[in-house]
Amino acid sequence: MTTFPQTRAFTGFNTPSRVEAEVQDLHVDGVIPAEIDGAFYRVQPEHQFPPLLGDDISFNGDGMISMFRIKGGKVDFRQRWAKTDKWKLENEAGRALFGAYRNPLTDEPGVQGKIRGTANTNAYIHGGRLYGLKEDSPALAMDPATLETDGYTDFGGKMKGETFTAHPKTDPQTGNMCGFGYASKGVLTRDMTYYEISPDGELLYDVWFETPYYCMMHDFGITKDYAVFSVMPMTSSRERLEAGKPHFGFDTSLPSYLAVMPRKPGTSAADIRWFRGGSCFTAHVMNAYQEGTQIHIDMPVAENNMMPFFPDINDKPFDPMAGRTFLTRWTVDMNQNGEEYRSERLSDMIGDFPRFDERRMGETYRYGWMVVIDPSQPVELKGGSAGGWVMNTLGMVDLGMGEEQKYWVGPTSSVQEPCFIPRSKDAPEGDGWIVMVCNRLETHSSELLIFEATRIAEGPIASVSIPVRLRFGLHGNWASAKDLAVLEAV
Ligand SMILES: [Fe+2]
Repeated sequence: MTTFPQTRAFTGFNTPSRVEAEVQDLHVDGVIPAEIDGAFYRVQPEHQFPPLLGDDISFNGDGMISMFRIKGGKVDFRQRWAKTDKWKLENEAGRALFGAYRNPLTDEPGVQGKIRGTANTNAYIHGGRLYGLKEDSPALAMDPATLETDGYTDFGGKMKGETFTAHPKTDPQTGNMCGFGYASKGVLTRDMTYYEISPDGELLYDVWFETPYYCMMHDFGITKDYAVFSVMPMTSSRERLEAGKPHFGFDTSLPSYLAVMPRKPGTSAADIRWFRGGSCFTAHVMNAYQEGTQIHIDMPVAENNMMPFFPDINDKPFDPMAGRTFLTRWTVDMNQNGEEYRSERLSDMIGDFPRFDERRMGETYRYGWMVVIDPSQPVELKGGSAGGWVMNTLGMVDLGMGEEQKYWVGPTSSVQEPCFIPRSKDAPEGDGWIVMVCNRLETHSSELLIFEATRIAEGPIASVSIPVRLRFGLHGNWASAKDLAVLEAV
């Protein structure tokens, strides 16, 4: 008999779903433009079995990958587990064998030393391959048509680090996938590695360096010539793991850093410039770009920790006001003598999960979209929500015109990360659509909403009913059928 814990992470909308599915021709309200031809991939954490230690955080669930194949105004849906080494071992045992998030000390002895990754954070397409990604482990190669798992890849034996980010970037000029790993020499190590991978899946070069302290390095930015990393004080220690505390704790006594690394073979740690600022929270990156000798990186930034499940290291209570993230631009000049980065707020919307038209990756850009918390809108959920706030709005910033748009999804709903679909390969920036999963929290159902990308305030042009409940997901990406040949057969 299996009994999941009756806790926040496993009840209500978070009740385990665990459904692999294949459904043709989903019900659509409205009209999906006939030009849309491709697939939207996204992933949600989903525990295969009740957690070993009684309760768990959502971030420790196994990856469940969804694919929406959109063609000729119709949508087909497919969903499969990311069959990681962990998933296979536990599937064979019929129960959980691995313990707490990023704490191998809590694993059963029989699985000590096995790769603990869950591939639950991003579903990324590069060079015709689908990667299920989790930042504590290598990239999991999957088939983008069938969603069957091939297994972990070390890019032809060349990746020597133990981990690969869940937030790689594809350079539109070279086609290379730029990525990195942290804790590259093992859990808690300060070692980081930068990687560039060709469209053929060949690792072209790597750069090894160390961060000033061990930190959650969740995302980064690339410009034409540089990779840009923000170091924030979400840290950990051997003592935390031995004490069974959550892996990460937030240490406001530590500074933040911005590292700027030349993107070229032969770069060494000594070539990296480190800038610094006060303690703050950063995780996701919208985009980065160069302007002469200046380098900009745009990202949601909060004054203090925004993740209550990774508490303050001194057990100070979580402060939701200080944890609000606002899109912010950090700037440094490679000719400056001082070590400080400059910081400028770009929007007053409380926003995260930033996305943009990724054909502008590493370049100046105009439009961005985010998941927004709009506290001015009513929340009518039974039992309320954490902090009384819900990610209830899709937001858009037009940085060129200094304008914003919002679309609120109602008092009993929340949204997942938006994703931009260009109208065509050569369409102007922002010309296309946004796809986004919407959680209907009272009816425990999910929809895929499609918007005209620069007119989101008008509401969705199509709403697709998903016949299984999707849980809160993390990240996803679009692949057009022109770029991903195997989709023709799907
Ligand atoms: Fe992320």
